[in-house]
Parts: sequence; structure tokens; C-alpha cells
Amino acid sequence: MRQAGRYLPEYRKVRAQVSGFLDLCYTPDLAVEVSLQPIRRYALDAAIVFSDILVVPHALGQTVAFREGEGPVLEPIRNEAAVAQLRSAGLHDQLAPVYETVRRLAKSLPREVALIGFAGAPWTVATYMVEGGTSRSFHDVQLWAYRDPEGFAKLIDRLVAATIEYLSAQITAGVEIVQLFDSWAGILPEAAFKRWVIEPTARIVAALRHRHPDVPIIGFPRGAGLLYPGYFSATDVSAVGLDTTVPLSVAQEILQRIGPVQGNLDPLLVVAGGASMAAATRAIVAALSQGPFVFNLGHGIVPETPPEHVAELVALLRSF
Ligand code: CP3
Repeated sequence: MRQAGRYLPEYRKVRAQVSGFLDLCYTPDLAVEVSLQPIRRYALDAAIVFSDILVVPHALGQTVAFREGEGPVLEPIRNEAAVAQLRSAGLHDQLAPVYETVRRLAKSLPREVALIGFAGAPWTVATYMVEGGTSRSFHDVQLWAYRDPEGFAKLIDRLVAATIEYLSAQITAGVEIVQLFDSWAGILPEAAFKRWVIEPTARIVAALRHRHPDVPIIGFPRGAGLLYPGYFSATDVSAVGLDTTVPLSVAQEILQRIGPVQGNLDPLLVVAGGASMAAATRAIVAALSQGPFVFNLGHGIVPETPPEHVAELVALLRSF
């Protein structure tokens, strides 16, 4: 979960070579390098391709920029007419540098290190496209979905189609697992969750399974809470990523009966390090390692994380 990034000095050095964050995602030489940095430092089982979930709206023709200290800024899309103006061809041309990064990574990674590709799930990507960036309230996107569900569905449908094509091309280029990040799944009431999180995800899963039956698909419906089990069963993802709030008893007694779980150490415990990080890690492993389980953080690593705490965490995990 965000292996690379500002917490690593070697990442900051590469990042300083380009003006925009998206240039880093679209320059295979640099994207390969930052993807490999965490693998060189730590004994990890998998590498994640360095890119971002917002390359998909960018490839669809939306204006996307990353501003220092502000996060992503997009020219908001608020109605069906704006959806109709999105680019309908050339997706793979725009995203070709990501596929090239994948091909090079697949060649350079040691055999025993798996390569994970990813995309944002349609609902989460739509929140950025409609709100114009990271939102506090999500009123614009939710109100559009409530007032004009048919129009909003056009945007979701475009994202479902683009996500299938994008992940399928990543798999063809060499990723062995894909993960769908639905970081804002947890803000929706049950009926909206079913329509905008579960249904689009299930369509993506069905299409990818059909094309690539052996590639596992991990779903990460962050904040889904009591809706996690329904999400797991109804989307048919191969595994679920657990956010930091999922109780270990629920993960063990309910979710692991459905399938493998991945998670869920609080990234702030990796900032804290020491005895608190070790105790929480031991508790997660004790609760979940009897069932199908992949250890991970419960959300992305944060910039203030001391790299040596990650080393301590990996060493502890390797000791089990
Ligand atoms: O190892 C990796 O870092 C994998 C690559 C990766 C990035 N983003 C790189 C990145 C992945 C898997 C993502 C996913 C992503 N991007 C998500 C889903 C996961 C989550 O965190 O919930 C989301 C919502 C985004 C959108 C996004 N990208 C935001 C909101 C921001 C700004 C955050 C900030 O702190 O300013 C980004 C930028 C971004 N994407 C960074 C990285 C390493 C930080 C920018 C930098 O370090 O230069």
C-alpha cells in the first residue's frame, strides 16, 4: 500500500527530476526506478507498479494536475454533457508508458517477487472527477448520483469500461495480481454502496476473470464497515484489503470464511514504531495467519514514516 513515496529519500531525489507528479508516472525510466526502490531496501513479497489512480481520468481527457501541498486538482465534471465530452478513443496510447513500465518491471524483478498492478475503482475515481480533487464532504458527487442517477451512471459506465481495458493491458504487459482501490467506498449508504461500489466492481471482476482467469483481483473498499462481507461475496473479488478499522475478529470469523484477507496495520503505527508497532503486528498475525492472509498496511504509508521503522516491521514479520 503506497510502498514508494515521499518517506524515502531516494524517491524524493527522483521526484525532484520532474516538474509534475504525472510526469513521473509517464516516464518509464523513472517509474521503474521508484517502483524498485522499496524492493531494494526491504524483503517484500511483492512490488506495486508506480503510477496513480488519476491517470485514468487524465487519459479520458480530463485536466489533472498535482499541486505541491494541495494534492490532485481536476477540472470538475458535473453533468452528463461533460461525460459525453470525455475522450472515447486513445486510452491505450495515453497509458502506454504505464504498460512499458510494467514490461520493464516484469523483466527486472526477482522471480519470487510478485508484481501488482492497480486502478482506482469507478466510484472513487468518480469522486475525484466530480469534486475536482480530494473532498471533505463529497456533496457534489453524492448529490449528482441522487438527483440524476441515470446521468451519473454514464460516468460510472465509462469508468468501468476504461478500468477493464486498463487492467487487462497491465496484465498482458506482465502484472500478476491487480488491486482495485475504492478509497471512498465507506461514505455511501447501503443502497448507493450497492449501486456505485458493488455493481461496477462486480462488472470489472467478471470481465477480467473472463479474459484472465488466473489473475487474482484484490478489492479494497476502504471504510465499508458492516458492508465488507456483502462486498466480498457480491463482487466476487479474489481477496479483500482490510482498512485499519476492520476488527480482527470480524476479519477472522466472517471475512476469511469467504476468502483471503489483506491488511491491516495502521500506517501511523509505522510512524510510531517500537513496541506499539510490534504489538499490533503480532496481534494481526496471530488472528489472521491461520486462514488465507496477506500482511499489509490498512492504508497508504505516510510521508513522515521513518524508513528504518519499515525495516523493523519487515524483520519482525520475517521472524514469524
Ligand atoms: O508504491 C506506490 O506508491 C504505488 C503507487 C500509488 C500512488 N498512488 C502513488 C502516489 C498508488 C497505488 C496510489 C493510489 C492512489 N492515488 C489512491 C488509492 C489509495 C489511497 O491512498 O487511498 C488515491 C486515492 C490516489 C490519489 C492521490 N494521489 C492523492 C489523493 C494524492 C495526493 C496525496 C498527498 O499526500 O499529497 C496522490 C499523489 C501520490 N500518488 C503520491 C504517490 C507516491 C504522493 C506524491 C509524491 O510523493 O510525490
